[in-house]
Amino acid sequence: MAKVKLSGIRKSFGQSEVIKGIDLEIPAGSFCAFVGPSGCGKSTLLRMIAGLEDITHGSLEIGGQEMIDVAPAKRGVAMVFQSYALYPHMTVAENVTFGLRMANHPKRDTEQRCLEAARMLKLEELLDRKPSQLSGGQRQRVAIGRAIVRNPDVFLFDEPLSNLDAALRVEMRAEITRLHAKLDATMLYVTHDQVEAMTMADMIVVLDKGMIEQVGSPLGLYHEPNTLFVARFIGSPRMNTFSVNLCDAGDGNVSCMLPGGSSIQLDGSSLRTGKATFGIRPEHLDVVADGHLQGKAVLCERLGSETMLHVDIGLADPITVKADGLTNVTEGDAVGLKLNPKACHLFGPDDRRVRSGSLQ
Ligand SMILES: Nc1ncnc2c1ncn2[C@@H]1O[C@H](COP(=O)(O)OP(=O)(O)O)[C@@H](O)[C@H]1O
Ligand SMILES: [Mg+2]
Repeated sequence: MAKVKLSGIRKSFGQSEVIKGIDLEIPAGSFCAFVGPSGCGKSTLLRMIAGLEDITHGSLEIGGQEMIDVAPAKRGVAMVFQSYALYPHMTVAENVTFGLRMANHPKRDTEQRCLEAARMLKLEELLDRKPSQLSGGQRQRVAIGRAIVRNPDVFLFDEPLSNLDAALRVEMRAEITRLHAKLDATMLYVTHDQVEAMTMADMIVVLDKGMIEQVGSPLGLYHEPNTLFVARFIGSPRMNTFSVNLCDAGDGNVSCMLPGGSSIQLDGSSLRTGKATFGIRPEHLDVVADGHLQGKAVLCERLGSETMLHVDIGLADPITVKADGLTNVTEGDAVGLKLNPKACHLFGPDDRRVRSGSLQ
């Protein structure tokens, strides 16, 4: 378990800068998820920490020690790749112990560690099999086993669950979370899936275009997104956003002109007039006869436990509403929507937060 500190980290491939100055401190023992859209630089950042990619600029400390000139094998880190990267001609046991054997680690301890990892990952029965005789989930567990036996201070995971089917992903999510608790290690986990980040991490770093958008706890980011980007990235289905005009309503209140002509009064906005982007999550809209917004249901996705209503209110995109699983609204129905003022977000013309919901 070690602290990881990145200071002014930059990375260029030729002329193109893909990591544009990252400052971040990850406390020892935390489970830190890096999320962001494809191409935002997540893998590059992880590979720089692992030592698989040079750092163009900046400093990287692991456990208080500068790592820039330290070889990958000496950094106390172990990485798990999305592609598993197993040797097809080796058995599970040989794959798991490969790194230790290459480093001439004592044989008894190598075997001991292999058995322990196998027990933890339920691979005991499979140690003599080849990767081709394993399911996707079992292969991924072998890749994790190979990291565990190295007893690293820091685990690095790059989208380890992306190749698994949905049910297995949920199972492996819980398994990796359990491992984190058991191993007491620092874990850095890259994913483009915000649900994975929300369910597993205690700290989330949202990246966009090689820069940090926001760092926070899962619920911190959900309730108080600093930017429109974070607001729309965290939460599924995503937050509804549309543009509104604001006017000062006095006493610290602001009146937002909503699509369709009605308005809602909100407190606590640091912007009082002009254009803003209004944000409301699908679960904070109630279907009523006569609400703040009026529209027509164009699609009803019935999921059993809930129904996702897509309501056309005259904007380019319909509004998403999370309604009761048993709602009797059907396609074509006229729908009124009531907004919970406590849950309304506002973003200024620079897309930064000027007001967040106060549901927490
Ligand atoms: N070896 C490389 N040479 C040139 N460009 C690269 C290389 N590796 C990654 N990139 C570019 O860096 C950017 C970030 O890539 P990556 O870190 O893989 O993103 P992510 O993992 O978030 O999807 C992308 O624009 C990608 O094309
Ligand atoms: Mg990647």
